[in-house]
Amino acid sequence: MKKVLVTGGLGFIGSHTVVNLIEEKYDVVIIDNLFNSKLEVLDRIEQITGVRPKFYQFDVQNISKLDEVFKNEKPDVIIHFAGYKAVGESCKKPLMYYKNNLESSFALIEMMEKYNCKNIVFSSSATVYGIPKKVPLTEEDPVQSSTSPYGETKVMIERILEDESKVHPEFNICLLRYFNPIGAHKSGLLGEDPNGIPNNLLPYINKVAVGKLDCVHVFGNDYPTVDGTGVRDYIHVCDLAKGHVLSLNKLKENPGLCIYNLGTGKGTSVLEIIKLYEEATGVKIPYVIDPRRDGDVAINYASNEKAKKELGFNCDFDVKQACLDGYNYQVAEEKRTKK
Ligand SMILES: NC(=O)c1ccc[n+]([C@@H]2O[C@H](COP(=O)([O-])OP(=O)(O)OC[C@H]3O[C@@H](n4cnc5c(N)ncnc54)[C@H](O)[C@@H]3O)[C@@H](O)[C@H]2O)c1
Repeated sequence: MKKVLVTGGLGFIGSHTVVNLIEEKYDVVIIDNLFNSKLEVLDRIEQITGVRPKFYQFDVQNISKLDEVFKNEKPDVIIHFAGYKAVGESCKKPLMYYKNNLESSFALIEMMEKYNCKNIVFSSSATVYGIPKKVPLTEEDPVQSSTSPYGETKVMIERILEDESKVHPEFNICLLRYFNPIGAHKSGLLGEDPNGIPNNLLPYINKVAVGKLDCVHVFGNDYPTVDGTGVRDYIHVCDLAKGHVLSLNKLKENPGLCIYNLGTGKGTSVLEIIKLYEEATGVKIPYVIDPRRDGDVAINYASNEKAKKELGFNCDFDVKQACLDGYNYQVAEEKRTKK
């Protein structure tokens, strides 16, 4: 299993994974339509690894272009990151989310069948567990209908891939359920820098840290948690990226369908994150407490025991390191964009 086709490979998680794959001597081919990424990321991957992966810029839904890539590249395995991911936006534009996330997955599955590509790793999410009845969440916990169209696409694609695995016992399918990826590559060259107001906590804190936003809005401080604020499982994006390389090792054993949580197994509250961020960077992060947001749950974190046992997964970085790496990336990005 040498050649890996990475869809969405210039995005936040995809780019970090591509670096790991190149470091592990995989031959990487990327498809990305740059909807939520920049071409410079390709230069940065080359700067870090010394290798410039082959890159195709088009929408994965474009079946004729995809067919061409499969015909020419003959990938052994697909890692499918490409998709839209903003939960709030998906509630306002459901069709856009269903169309892109589902159609791109359909196109890839068709190509797997046509070109006998037997292996796929799919970017799923902890969102498939819905509102958790207990924590930590294990892979045996039920998948539930989601509150957002984004989450629902993950539930649906998981289901579609499970059904495909029943009729294609030769397919090896790995569903990776990510918890909350944060941080950035230690070089400061790769990270997450969303346009406009960030949806997620850490990109928001980064923008406050560099003075682009005034203060962090903490939604609710009356949850039954350590300090009343919401608790999540924040995983360093480089640890998450490593999980993908480990999942490829697993696929080499012909496991059929397999499912893993990728999280740290530990929860951290919003106020704890703010404190750790301040300790790591020395930058004061002002915050205000706002009312709870609809749909937010009090506590959500993973059991990563299965990934540890079956993939040899572990986390090298803690939340404080992720805060520092994320901040360093943001500062470097500000300097680069000012040039
Ligand atoms: N970041 C998170 O918090 C998180 C959590 C759970 C799951 N995920 C999933 O992981 C995957 C990657 O997330 P990310 O944070 O790196 O997102 P991202 O937006 O940074 O990366 C996705 C990439 O896919 C590209 N893309 C989108 N639709 C495409 C299409 N139709 N054709 C070609 N390219 C397309 C975008 O341009 C972008 O570069 C997504 O599927 C996301 O839903 C992310």
